[in-house]
Amino acid sequence: MKFVAFSALALATSVSAFSPTAFAPRTSTSLSARKPFIAGNWKMNPGTKDEAVALGKEIAGAFSSSTPCEVALFAPYPFLDATVDAVGSSGVKVGAEMAFTEGKGAYTAEVSVSMIKSVGCNWALAGHSERRTLFGESDEDINKQVLNLLNNDVGCILCIGETQAEYEQGLVGPICTTQLKKNLLGVTPEQMANVVIAYEPVWAIGTGLTCPASEAQDVHATCRSVLADMYGQTVSDTVRIQYGGSVTPETVDELMAKPDIDGALVGGASLVAEKFSRIINFEEAKVSA
Ligand code: PGA
Repeated sequence: MKFVAFSALALATSVSAFSPTAFAPRTSTSLSARKPFIAGNWKMNPGTKDEAVALGKEIAGAFSSSTPCEVALFAPYPFLDATVDAVGSSGVKVGAEMAFTEGKGAYTAEVSVSMIKSVGCNWALAGHSERRTLFGESDEDINKQVLNLLNNDVGCILCIGETQAEYEQGLVGPICTTQLKKNLLGVTPEQMANVVIAYEPVWAIGTGLTCPASEAQDVHATCRSVLADMYGQTVSDTVRIQYGGSVTPETVDELMAKPDIDGALVGGASLVAEKFSRIINFEEAKVSA
């Protein structure tokens, strides 16, 4: 479990560093326990079902009772069934990279929540930056996806984050705030138990540029303060916020040592079993946060 003491200073720093507009910084002395959660986002990889099965098996083999986090693999639709079988009873979860908002019907190429549930998946991503930028998904589309997942009892990792231009303009705080507010519109405090946030600076995704851990921590604290405004301190203290963007075995320990970083969403390194195995078995204690 990750024990977190909230610091007024950290939140105040995050607000001034990332937001030209005013946030109401939250302070709390409460301790909360959040089980870390590390997920692999395979995107449109690997190339064949056999490779997906081999990767799933290797990763499941590296997951043990001493692994300090929950682990999930987000796989392409044609491999979901086989990946669920590959991880077996290891405890590793398998999820879909998105699910369409309609239940069934004439929506060529789309995949519904009931379809992914029927092959044993109880998690899905929503709002990944590649869906936003390459496939034109709007905040409203993403909000519908989130609500549809939650209303069907499927857990949701909601991805948010700023582009490089927004980062350079100092808009990290406002962008994350807007995305959280628009993408979670209508989600109840109770449903937030099934939501994980992934903060993924777009400029760090697939580029090898990891956001420095201290900067990521500031953004996570800001997001948590926004969640506190939306849902109250108790919900905000329990929602897990992952960092995503070029996470590697070399960077994971320092990231995970930060109090508001509760996991990672890992793309490229989740396709290499050895790397992802090291990432899920991170060694937070080795780092002085
Ligand atoms: P990356 O991808 O680890 O390859 O940067 C992360 C993501 O897109 O979720």
